[in-house]
Amino acid sequence: MSVERITIAIDGYSSCGKSTVAKALAKKLGYIYIDSGAMYRAVTFYCMQHKIISDGKFSESEVLKAINNIHLSFHVNPLTHVSEIHLNGVNVEKDIRGMDVSEHVSPISTIKGVREKIVGLQKEFGKNKGIVMDGRDIGTNVFPDAELKIFMTADPVVRAQRRWEELKEKGMDASLDDVKKNIELRDYEDTHRAHNPLRKAEDAVVLDNTLLNLDQQLAFAEKLVDSIK
Ligand code: DC
Repeated sequence: MSVERITIAIDGYSSCGKSTVAKALAKKLGYIYIDSGAMYRAVTFYCMQHKIISDGKFSESEVLKAINNIHLSFHVNPLTHVSEIHLNGVNVEKDIRGMDVSEHVSPISTIKGVREKIVGLQKEFGKNKGIVMDGRDIGTNVFPDAELKIFMTADPVVRAQRRWEELKEKGMDASLDDVKKNIELRDYEDTHRAHNPLRKAEDAVVLDNTLLNLDQQLAFAEKLVDSIK
């Protein structure tokens, strides 16, 4: 039995609990955790802050110009032991989670030049393996050779309810109906975009967590890891 460190790619629809499973799995294995969606969110947040996105509209060339001024890094929070995203040296982990960023992030993530820059960084983060990364194109595009690929899904109504409760817990204001619409729209945009759309890699294992709690999901993932190592 080898104890080599592996690469774990977790892809799936919005709000199906990818990051919760990915974080717990990374912690258990002593691996790095990278939330790839946070990187697209941080770029979107920057564009909103700098009025490059205004009234929901933006020009691709302005976003591409801005991307040269964006430096993204992850730093482990000493209290939670989870990596958090920094935008030009500032922790923006909280700022990027609101509905305003959620509403604009999918169109920004469709821009080819944005994806190229972010995917390049992601590959760099994973070059020494021992990483769990979650997102939409990790198993298909970022780490096509990952030893373990998991494709997560859950009933859209259950996803909307979970997301709404999460926002409520964080004190963020949103109606369940708006959250549901946003999830449906992002599902559509994420699966229909031209560059690296969300799809299940042929060699990914499906994890439908509609009826599963975190312990059950983690047990499922750990069993898969054990079957590889
Ligand atoms: O995982 P999330 O909901 O925080 O991701 C936000 C958006 O970023 C999502 O709607 C699509 C985009 N995204 C992407 O295009 N590719 C990834 N690997 C991760 C996220």
